[in-house]
Amino acid sequence: SFEMSLRPQTLAQYIGQEKVKHNLAVFIQAAKQRHETLDHVLLYGPPGLGKTTLAMVIANEMGVKIRTTSGPAIERPGDLAAVLTSLEPGEVLFIDEIHRLPKAIEEVLYPAMEDYCLDIVIGKGTGARSIRLDLPPFTLIGATTRAGSVSAPLRDRFGVISRLEYYDENQLAEIVLRTADILQTEIEPEGAREIARRSRGTPRIANRLLRRVRDFAQVKGDGKVTLEVANYALELLQVDKLGLDHIDHKLLKGIIERFKGGPVGLDTIAASIGEEAETIEDVYEPYLLQIGFLQRTPRGRVATPLVYEHFQMEVPK
Ligand code: ADE
Repeated sequence: SFEMSLRPQTLAQYIGQEKVKHNLAVFIQAAKQRHETLDHVLLYGPPGLGKTTLAMVIANEMGVKIRTTSGPAIERPGDLAAVLTSLEPGEVLFIDEIHRLPKAIEEVLYPAMEDYCLDIVIGKGTGARSIRLDLPPFTLIGATTRAGSVSAPLRDRFGVISRLEYYDENQLAEIVLRTADILQTEIEPEGAREIARRSRGTPRIANRLLRRVRDFAQVKGDGKVTLEVANYALELLQVDKLGLDHIDHKLLKGIIERFKGGPVGLDTIAASIGEEAETIEDVYEPYLLQIGFLQRTPRGRVATPLVYEHFQMEVPK
């Protein structure tokens, strides 16, 4: 589809994550030379950095198809068995949010990953017996925002574990220019750079902001994404100069104004501003920690002096 064509198809087209890409290129080439299936891969890191895209790129580079599902979508062992038994040899099975796989299902996955087989229990009580089903060889690619939430036995069964990192401004500007080209949108380098600067190190955000800025350029300007249009649109979108949005502001100002800058527990601040604790932890906190605006202490979250400076507030003693 048109949406899909935004995604890079090959490692060469994929911008950034140089270390991860370089290692994967070696493992892919080695597996292909041996006519083997690629080892299972666990990708982890904050949302929007390209875990799903990278899984698709890996499958494409291996020359195999990819089947996509997610941890919460697999509710019963039979759901997983149905997927595993219908794979074609060598296929990639991508499980997003793999840390949310129920425990009972993880256990079905262990022999599948290790020996390409499935142990199925037939019958009940004293008549129950287990039969072993052979599976086609496959590559499991798991993705998670929380490597720490993947159980040790599951983690140990991945031959490759890669962490995706936030992108720098140059990489994001390159991604914005690439996407603008695909969308056939005229863009000035300064416009791309401004969007990049305000995208929280995250390509998914950069591409979303580009689409919105492009709307303003089309309706309010001559269609070209300039620095001026970018600044105008991003202001109206309530994305500040550092890329912090309405919810980042609510979170940071909440900690400062209601909890004297912290420390405050995650659940307390979440309830106080009416956001899900899990969303704050997985989506908002990682970038604020990365730029040094938040610190995690044993007693809770603390806003650093950088936050006060950003909001032009006096730093308390
Ligand atoms: N679009 C989104 N993420 C990308 C990336 N890492 N490389 C190229 N295009 C992208």
